[in-house]
Amino acid sequence: MSIIIKNIKELIQVEYQPRDKVSGVEMAELLTVRDAYVLIKNGLISDFGNMNTLDESVYGTENDELMVIDATGRMVLPAWCDSHTHIVFPASREIEYIDKIKGLSYEEIAKRGGGILNSARKMHEASEEELTELALARLEEIISFGTGAVEIKSGYGLNTEDELKMLRVIKKLKELSPLTIKSTFLGAHAIPAEYKNNPALYVDIIINEMIPQVATEDIADYIDIFCDRGFFSVEDTDRILNAGMKYGLKPKIHANELDFSGGIQVGVKYNALSVDHLEYTGDEEIKVLLASDTMPTLLPGASFFLGLIYAPARKMIDAGLPIAMASDYNPGSSPSGNMQFILSLGCIAYKMLPEEAINAVTINGAYAMGLSDQLGSIAVGKKANLIITKEIPTYAFLPYAYGSNKVEKIILNGEIMNN
Ligand code: NIG
Ligand code: FE
Repeated sequence: MSIIIKNIKELIQVEYQPRDKVSGVEMAELLTVRDAYVLIKNGLISDFGNMNTLDESVYGTENDELMVIDATGRMVLPAWCDSHTHIVFPASREIEYIDKIKGLSYEEIAKRGGGILNSARKMHEASEEELTELALARLEEIISFGTGAVEIKSGYGLNTEDELKMLRVIKKLKELSPLTIKSTFLGAHAIPAEYKNNPALYVDIIINEMIPQVATEDIADYIDIFCDRGFFSVEDTDRILNAGMKYGLKPKIHANELDFSGGIQVGVKYNALSVDHLEYTGDEEIKVLLASDTMPTLLPGASFFLGLIYAPARKMIDAGLPIAMASDYNPGSSPSGNMQFILSLGCIAYKMLPEEAINAVTINGAYAMGLSDQLGSIAVGKKANLIITKEIPTYAFLPYAYGSNKVEKIILNGEIMNN
């Protein structure tokens, strides 16, 4: 079946010459077509343009059914690309949230065996079926907010068996969900209690047991490490990435959330696809990133929820860097996968312009998952993963109305997900 969406008030993020990412001043540019149409065929965008160039007789043929959607007053844009989540988790952690309200920090909670270790204990008890069902419900919710592609990490297993269990669940989600999904092995998310006094031993297990098995089963697209104060050191990260590289695992790194940890530098050294969080980014880190192909990925939901400082996004863009933004959906530091809220935080907390924020959650998010040739913009030949908005006055209304769901319909792989 083909779909034509007509009378679109404004078609946002169109590309005539597809780019893999946008950086610096280019981030403030957003190409749009007013009074537009988009044609979808075989799950792909096959044509778009201004309504006065639309020749409807061309599109309906006898053996190809054509569905017409009238989008009068509505806008169409690429579905969000959420490049950093921990959506497979066994249970929420709102009890720790109360501890945080009372004044404990994320690190203090982690030190007394809460946080990631709390999720790991419950992960051990949970079956693959339970985890899949819980994650599928979360995936459905993020689709309703407009997400079309998502990266999901392991990292609540922290032993070989449970890390593999999480990655198998993500593999299952790839089969069951209409979302485009990338999976990341994050065995180095926290140091298990039994290795507290000898973290190098746990790193040995990651290198000698986990990575070879992950590679043999071919169940991870990327590898991640939480390289930060109180978690994994630069030296640990170096060792793990070196081992991952031998199996062709490209890094995406949790870096500089809690301190100037050296995580950005070690990520870039291994040609990471992205380095993520980056609350602690100074001139030195910006210089290193400018000389790389690594996507700096900011997670404002974690700063918002934990009351951390915000990454210096304005300074980074003004220095010429690209920025992607992702939800970091996880039970401890960002229990929401609503990318519309992330878009708003980009403008409110980082002082990004609406155009910059939209670029950060579409094309640059796609790049941070290795998907910008297929997703992240309206371009002929890309996957038809589209948002049709409710009636809205301008596209700046998307970040502005931070508490409302502005998505009316979502189309994934050329199929309407809701009516
Ligand atoms: O990205 N920073 C490390 N990991 C996650 C938090 C995971 C958790 O607390 O469960 C994050 O914020
Ligand atoms: Fe994270």
